[in-house]
Amino acid sequence: MNLVLLGPPGGGKGTQAKRLQDKYGLVQLSTGDMLRAAVASGSEVGKRAKAVMDAGQLVSDEIVIAIIDERLEQPDTKPGVIFDGFPRTVAQAEALDAMMERKGRRLDVAIEVRVPDALLVERITGRYTCAKCGSGYHDSFQKPKVAGVCDKCGGSEFVRRADDNAETVTKRLGAYHAQTAPLLPYYDGKGKLHLVDGTQEIGKVTVDLEGILDALR
Ligand code: AP5
Ligand code: MG
Repeated sequence: MNLVLLGPPGGGKGTQAKRLQDKYGLVQLSTGDMLRAAVASGSEVGKRAKAVMDAGQLVSDEIVIAIIDERLEQPDTKPGVIFDGFPRTVAQAEALDAMMERKGRRLDVAIEVRVPDALLVERITGRYTCAKCGSGYHDSFQKPKVAGVCDKCGGSEFVRRADDNAETVTKRLGAYHAQTAPLLPYYDGKGKLHLVDGTQEIGKVTVDLEGILDALR
């Protein structure tokens, strides 16, 4: 099974992808995480992407399509993937369709995790992740069970993203509405779009997503 999680910055795509991947034996492919890894490694792609990401704009279609194309060649993706933050433009969605066909695979469903803009700034400015294993947390909505200790790996170092500030969030939301929201009618027109209410608490959103995926299996 291959699925796309659609939704605004801070909508919960990454949080939910991590919760779904083990249960369904899928691999989370987050282009945001891949680009941040490229920035951290100082690669040529990372150098080109950094300023664009810090400004809250979209990295070029050409770069992200190439990253996903290459990643899908790795055998761990064969059982299925959760695309998180990709595609983000109609050009990327068309490239994904062509790529999947070429690789003899199929995109089963695109699910919109819908959250109104008013909730997103607080979600994003309160977000942090474990530096060791990448588990996600929030200052108010998702605290570790023991303060300062990662639930998953016991790590005690946490990091915040360079683009997680109120100013950049507004720009990222602008990019979402202008460039990514057209993917909703794109997938609806193919009969592949489902919707979940992303304003619910994290566990309830997961239950709704599982309902959609279980019906497809
Ligand atoms: P990316 O990393 O994809 O960032 P994003 O789309 O802005 O999405 P986020 O990761 O901010 O949000 P999320 O939906 O994953 O939310 P999360 O689960 O963490 O992209 C970053 C940048 O890279 C882009 O701006 C662009 O420059 C570039 N880029 C990436 N992909 C690209 C592409 N395909 N094309 C071009 N450029 C690309 O949740 C947020 C917080 O809220 C967490 O703290 C969490 O604990 C909390 N939370 C989650 N769910 C709930 C809930 N239900 N209730 C309460 N709190 C919740
Ligand atoms: Mg994310």
